[in-house]
Amino acid sequence: MKEYSLALVGATGVVGREARKVLEELQLPISKYVFLASSRSAGTKLEFMGKEYEVQELKEDSFDEGFDFAVFSAGGETSKKFGPIASSKGAIVVDNSSAFRMEKDVPLVVPEVNPGDISWNHGIIANPNCSTIQAVVPLKVLDDKYTIKRIIYSTYQAVSGAGKSGIDDLENGIQGYVDNEEYELTKFAHPIFNNCLPDIDVAMPSGYTKEEEKMINETRKILGKPDLAVTATCVRVPVFNSHSESINVEFENEFDLEELIETLKKSEGIIVEDDLPNHIYPLAANSTGHNEVYVGRIRRDFSVKNGLNFWCVADNIRKGAATNALQIVKYIIEN
Ligand code: A2P
Repeated sequence: MKEYSLALVGATGVVGREARKVLEELQLPISKYVFLASSRSAGTKLEFMGKEYEVQELKEDSFDEGFDFAVFSAGGETSKKFGPIASSKGAIVVDNSSAFRMEKDVPLVVPEVNPGDISWNHGIIANPNCSTIQAVVPLKVLDDKYTIKRIIYSTYQAVSGAGKSGIDDLENGIQGYVDNEEYELTKFAHPIFNNCLPDIDVAMPSGYTKEEEKMINETRKILGKPDLAVTATCVRVPVFNSHSESINVEFENEFDLEELIETLKKSEGIIVEDDLPNHIYPLAANSTGHNEVYVGRIRRDFSVKNGLNFWCVADNIRKGAATNALQIVKYIIEN
């Protein structure tokens, strides 16, 4: 069996660290790993699959030795500069940033949803935005069966999605509250502790945030429906990990609620937790550390024809980033 090689760019970051865990779990036929980060952490030692590796500084010649895969989680600027270099040296780049997602010749892939799009890649495959990935897993199943007409997203997003500095802001906020002391914000415009911030990524001329525009545009691209009516409000909440989303959908076709729930239960990558009287529904804390998308509170929206509401939770660092990217790598290896 062929053995592959993989370079992990941003190996020391929040997503990179989780990607190392997911790689250990997946046991892919990869025999060579190289871990890359900035000069700040070059030389740092890390444990991986029982061996010690030294983190290397990402440079223009980092990919000269040739890799089958280069997985990037080091921010958009790093991807823009080094992604094309890695792919020009023969690696298939799986990029976690938003740098290439909306480019026409770059597939935007969630393996449960549109694995077929991997085949037309030109060396770069984009991993969608975390909040979009978890939403489209159940939405694709429902679209295939009932045809989606309109989607309204309302998100409750964890601080881990903002990287280490986002986590620091929540930790410092909690500590500052306990000690009754002032603290410096490192990431957000306002304290995230004891707050909800409807302000993720940057402000756009449309009046939306970039995160909201990403959800709208990426949903259309992944589902292959460029004119689909989609709107979104994205909110950062004081939760360390796992994004929660309220999703409202209108279908073209009528549906039977029990049948719809059964369809979701049988679908790959989805766990249905839906028993409100017994207080069973997806929870951020419970989904952390898991690769699946959790769906619950599944109920009719009686205010429109063929309307549905549901609650959708997933580990944003796993399924929303590291797991999804490595499932793409796995799919390529297996196909
Ligand atoms: P480093 O640890 O050396 O700063 P997070 O999202 O948790 O903030 O992590 C970002 C990741 O991207 C880290 O691994 C970080 O490395 C890496 N990174 C950031 N900027 C660069 C860069 N210019 N070149 C290479 N890696 C980078």
